[in-house]
Amino acid sequence: MSVNREVKKITTNTLLKMKQVGEKISMITAYDFSFAKIFDAAGIDIILVGDSASNVMAGHETTLPITLDQMIYHASSVVRGCSRSLIIVDLPFGSYQGNSKEALNSTIRIMKETGAHAIKLEGGEEILESVKRIISAGVPVMGHLGLTPQSIYKFGTYTVRAREEEEAEKLKRDALLLQEAGCFGIVLEKIPASLAKEVSAHLSIPTIGIGAGNDCDGQVLVMHDMLGINTEFKPRFLRTYLNLHEEVTGAVQKYIEDIKSKDFPNENEQY
Ligand code: KIV
Repeated sequence: MSVNREVKKITTNTLLKMKQVGEKISMITAYDFSFAKIFDAAGIDIILVGDSASNVMAGHETTLPITLDQMIYHASSVVRGCSRSLIIVDLPFGSYQGNSKEALNSTIRIMKETGAHAIKLEGGEEILESVKRIISAGVPVMGHLGLTPQSIYKFGTYTVRAREEEEAEKLKRDALLLQEAGCFGIVLEKIPASLAKEVSAHLSIPTIGIGAGNDCDGQVLVMHDMLGINTEFKPRFLRTYLNLHEEVTGAVQKYIEDIKSKDFPNENEQY
C-alpha cells in the first residue's frame, strides 16, 4: 500500500498571497540535484537556477558564456531534487535578446526539457515584447532589474545601480511595465534600499532583493556566497551562514592525512 504524503507546493499564487499578508519570501540559487534536495527539504520557497552557474559552477568571469543547453542540464538536475519549492530558470545571455520568437523558443526548451516552473530574464522595456509572448504561451515570468549581470560590459562595473534620478525613474517605469505585462515577480539587484522600498510598495507583485535592502518582499542569495564556498566575493549585502570553504578544506586535509598514515581504511571499513 502506498502512503500518499501531500506536499504543499509553492506556486506563483502562493508568492502573491505571501506578499499580501506580509510574509517574506525566501529564495536561493542551486545548480545540482544534491544541494537542491537539501534546500527544498529545508523549506526554501524558491530555487533559482541562476546563470550565475557560469561563475560559480564553470569558473567564468561573467554570466555571458553559459549556454541554453548548459542551463537545461543544471535545471533538470535541480528539478529532480525538489518536491515543494518553485523552480525558476534564468534565460541565458543570447537566448532571448534577438527577438520575442527566439525568447519563446528558448523558454519552450527549458519548460519541456527540465520540468521547471518559470523563467527569469533581465531587463525592462527593451524585452517587454518577449515577456508578453512568453506569458501568453502560459509560462510564468520573473523580471530582473537594477544590476543586470548580462549587461556588465554596458555598465562597466558591478557597483550599485540607479543611484541617479534618471536611472531610478527608468527602473520604476520598467517595474510597472513588467507588472502590467503579467510578470509574477521581479528581482531587484544592487539598488538603493529606499528605491527598492518605493518600488515594492508600489507593485502588487512581489519583489525579491539582492543587495536591495529589507523592504523587498523576499531575499535571494547565491548559494556559494551564503554558504561560504566562495571566499573571494564579499560584497556588503552578503551574509554568510557557513564557512564551507574552511570546513571542506579541513575535511579533505584530514582525509589525505588518514590515507598517508595508513589509518584509512581500518578493519571495520573493509570487506
Ligand atoms: O544568476 C543569479 O544567480 C541571479 C541572482 C543573483 C538573482 O540572477
